[in-house]
Amino acid sequence: MTAEAAHAMTVPPQPATIHPLWLRVTHWINAVAVIIMIGSGWEIYNASPLFAFAFPKSITLGGWLAGALLWHFAAMWLFVLNGLVYVVLGIATGRFRRKLLPLHASEVVADTRLALRGKLPHDDLAAYNALQKLFYIGVIVAGVVVVLSGLAMWKPVQLWWLAAAFGGYEPARFFHFFAMAAIVGFTVIHVVMAFVVPKALRAIILGR
Ligand code: HEM
Repeated sequence: MTAEAAHAMTVPPQPATIHPLWLRVTHWINAVAVIIMIGSGWEIYNASPLFAFAFPKSITLGGWLAGALLWHFAAMWLFVLNGLVYVVLGIATGRFRRKLLPLHASEVVADTRLALRGKLPHDDLAAYNALQKLFYIGVIVAGVVVVLSGLAMWKPVQLWWLAAAFGGYEPARFFHFFAMAAIVGFTVIHVVMAFVVPKALRAIILGR
């Protein structure tokens, strides 16, 4: 028996990588950027609320409007550049096509039924179920809307065509708010699920 064959028999095979390094790095940079963007965004919202409520000061970031704007614009670069890397690599490596598509309405209905009965299996971490696909595609779309509506509000004169695409400056604020709400809703469910399925949490940290 060769030394390689003996080695292969004694060393257990390494589990396959589920999440490549680029995905894990962009995922965790995104998580930090999103927390900063949301905390500072809530403080900016409080300075001129769209609705009849304000976010409690204890869960906002920046202390006051100007401080929150500094945090918001600093984290925006992180969020946008990191998001671009994730989307470009997701398309270029074929990951989006392999992991997030195809998505059929019938599978979403079937997996929702299973989830409501607590019977949605989580044994194969390499394949997302239809609900995960729907949520991940949804949060990527919400991320695009939040960035574009933010740009429309930031430079409404230079990017007048973008502001016009949202129906003007004021409607862009509503798009921005509801896209934020979708991201917050996603994140709450997502983090709960990560702790319900700890091996998925390990995989998004260690890769396998
Ligand atoms: C802060 C705490 C977070 C935790 C603990 C967490 C945990 C996880 C875990 C465990 C997975 C792998 C799921 C699986 O294999 O079944 C994952 C994937 C993912 N997470 Fe998070 N996440 C967090 C924040 C976020 C945020 C803030 C976003 C976006 C707003 C996000 C977006 C995603 C996306 C899109 C994927 C799928 C990536 C892909 O396969 O292309 N996560 N996350």
